[in-house]
Amino acid sequence: MVRKLIVAIDGPSASGKSTTGKKLAKLLGYLYIDTGAMYRAVALAAARAGIPYEEHSRVVELTEKIRIDLRGEAEQLKVFLDGLDITDAIRTPEISSAASKVSAIPGVRQTLLKRQREMGADGGVVMDGRDIGTHVFPNADVKFFLVADLMQRARRRNLEQAQQGHIVTFEQTLKEIEERDKRDQSRAYAPLKPAVDSIILDTSDLTPDQVVELMLSHIKRHREYARCSPA
Ligand code: DC
Repeated sequence: MVRKLIVAIDGPSASGKSTTGKKLAKLLGYLYIDTGAMYRAVALAAARAGIPYEEHSRVVELTEKIRIDLRGEAEQLKVFLDGLDITDAIRTPEISSAASKVSAIPGVRQTLLKRQREMGADGGVVMDGRDIGTHVFPNADVKFFLVADLMQRARRRNLEQAQQGHIVTFEQTLKEIEERDKRDQSRAYAPLKPAVDSIILDTSDLTPDQVVELMLSHIKRHREYARCSPA
């Protein structure tokens, strides 16, 4: 019986997780699961329902009620909230910051964690997030933790925001990333940190293809992968 792997990719904002995760999933023929998009969907749902992010119990109740679907191939992944396409709406700077806030609420995390485990249970997934290797799949077959220089990350994110039509100054982007890093790393429940058995990759001076190549070289060395996928 061929067992497909669970590949975890964690790391701070704009470290290259989604670009490389999508490419990697495509090459492996695996499903790409963007867990950050799920936190973003909760933030958007709360904003649309007029629920302040500080009202934790209401946000948790809402998280339990909404349906979040990730559909389509890795590079054309679409995100739906109760059947409505929210792919673009969740990429604004406001929702980025709000997602980081709602992701610190333990009840929100517990609800999404359950769904993420169901989505990845059969393997054959590349899952991108902050706590995949530490909490969602502590037994993931291969765990990557991406890091990159702060200025480089801010440059990448600022460019991405401009391409999406959000005109933000570099200083604003830098501030947003610093605040998110701090919040994501310091929350009490499932903070952002590398799993002890993760492979740390510094993407500062690498192109996405170079990062993917490195990832593939680690994956190919994995016992199960080598057994199931003769070269
Ligand atoms: O990866 P992203 O920028 O789309 O994630 C948005 C926010 O969601 C991020 O600031 C932290 C949070 N997040 C999390 O806490 N755990 C995850 N597994 C994924 C994202």
